[in-house]
Amino acid sequence: MNEAKVSIMRSEPAVSSEVKFEEFKVPVVEGMVVLDAVHYIQNNIDTTIGVRWNCKAARCGSCAAEINGSPRLMCKTRMEDAGPEVQIKPMRAFPVVKDLVTDLSHGYEVAKKIPPFTPRPEMKSPYKIQQIDITRSKEFRLCIECFLCMDVCHVIREHHSDYFGPKHVVKIAALDLHPADSVDRSELLHNEGGLGYCDITKCCQEVCPEGIRITDNAIIPEKERIVDHVYDPIGRLIRAARRRKW
Ligand code: SF4
Ligand code: SF4
Ligand code: FES
Repeated sequence: MNEAKVSIMRSEPAVSSEVKFEEFKVPVVEGMVVLDAVHYIQNNIDTTIGVRWNCKAARCGSCAAEINGSPRLMCKTRMEDAGPEVQIKPMRAFPVVKDLVTDLSHGYEVAKKIPPFTPRPEMKSPYKIQQIDITRSKEFRLCIECFLCMDVCHVIREHHSDYFGPKHVVKIAALDLHPADSVDRSELLHNEGGLGYCDITKCCQEVCPEGIRITDNAIIPEKERIVDHVYDPIGRLIRAARRRKW
């Protein structure tokens, strides 16, 4: 492949309601990724294309978009895999700011509601933690906050519910699995967080660029914790007497 047709969805809602696709011809070299193609267009054809990126190394999560209909990182998607005709759209679950740049501020508002790590008073730093506890929560700390799991979640896309969304369940699971943490976040996730809206379709898990098993290891265990903590008053009393979360 020497040349690809790259079609980019263009819009800027603050200026106009017009939404259109613009097509560009981009020379393709070996190893090129979709973000390189967007940069080529910006540098050589149209400097006004809005795109957010930082690391170009699949670490910052900024370049999330929908490539040929699939939520992907532009810097992790090779042009040879995307094919000779590449369509790039902004993430559909979030309001567009300009072209491929979306407004993620709702996600940051949700993040503020999640109580941070709060060690039990009897735990003294440095904490002595079993390797098994580190291994269990390590997966969740791989999250690069790309919001691709949020983008693909039909509850967030279609229903505009109060569901916090899979990215935030991953964050809560990481905190909940810390053996020194003392906060019970089950009621928050059950009530304000709307975890009951999630019907375990696993779409979020399929698109995570870090391979985090979002549904299997974060969402389902958090749903099980809610059953124990919210619907089992005797268990709640026992945990309160032991001054332990679990
Ligand atoms: S498993 Fe739940 S969070 Fe993940 S995409 Fe499906 S409904 Fe959304
Ligand atoms: S859980 Fe995965 S898909 Fe979701 S924000 Fe984190 S890295 Fe991205
Ligand atoms: S530019 Fe950082 S993840 Fe793509």
